[in-house]
Amino acid sequence: MKQDLLTFAEWSPEDMQKLLALAVEIKQSPASYANVLAGKSVVALFEKPSLRTRVSFDIGINRLGGHMVYLDSQAGKLAGREDAVDMAANLACWADAIVARVYSHRTLEQFAKAAKVPVINALCDLYHPCQGLADYLTVFERFGKTQGVTMAYVGDGNNVTHSLLIVGALLGCHQVVVTPEGHEVNQDIFAKAKQIGEVTGAQITQSHNFAAAKGADVIYTDTWLSMGDDTPLEIIKDKFMPYQVNEAMMAATGASFVMHCQPAHRDLEITGTLIDSAESLLMQQAENRMHGQNAILTHLLGS
Ligand code: CP
Ligand code: NVA
Repeated sequence: MKQDLLTFAEWSPEDMQKLLALAVEIKQSPASYANVLAGKSVVALFEKPSLRTRVSFDIGINRLGGHMVYLDSQAGKLAGREDAVDMAANLACWADAIVARVYSHRTLEQFAKAAKVPVINALCDLYHPCQGLADYLTVFERFGKTQGVTMAYVGDGNNVTHSLLIVGALLGCHQVVVTPEGHEVNQDIFAKAKQIGEVTGAQITQSHNFAAAKGADVIYTDTWLSMGDDTPLEIIKDKFMPYQVNEAMMAATGASFVMHCQPAHRDLEITGTLIDSAESLLMQQAENRMHGQNAILTHLLGS
């Protein structure tokens, strides 16, 4: 029975811990995994732009001995020329896995149903699971654990926030989500993270006041406007500016590190000086994208 990776929400804490350990192992001993994908091909299908995800999958697959074919959406959304289900079923005739970045989570569900090979979510409107895994690999490397570490996300409640909540809850990491009013996370996903946290000991809370982030070990932020949201920046800027992650916020919370999935917008959601500071984990996160994804590929496709 093939397995997909769309959300991580249905994973057990034990399986999530094992995947994190595999990512650590692959990063430390790449030579042992150099042939995991020998003779295998992965199609990467992107409806939206990407730098980190696209390149880290391509180079990562190569380092596992496999081959990646990149397809972009050419003329807008995927559904234009043929149905998503037909596209996925065709790709599965040749490829051993499909990596897809899409507008709607529903498209991924259709792909997973239609394709006889694993489908991996490379970002959709609701989740960014590959990012979540890389981020907790980064937390693990910095703190030697994820259990009991406190992550405060400050900004727009979005796909990245949702995956931080789910993966963090599975790994026992406390989460504080701070958003402006009207930009909260999806409440079903929040409830799911809380439910997981009851098993793992992760405390999951949300607030509109960044004072709630006091005492956090790490502050995390992301763009105020995600891909596909064409709200003009001027309309939301004044509302979001008090939530900017800057040196004053770091000092007020006492956090040791700052994280951001990137692309970052200097002096909007985060100050440029903080990105370049010793507290910034942004490049470590970016590097870990590849190691996390290689663990996912090894888990799904390795024999
Ligand atoms: N963080 C991330 O997914 O970056 P890209 O959009 O460049 O892939
Ligand atoms: N929330 C952002 C993440 C980009 C990696 C977006 O969806 O655009």
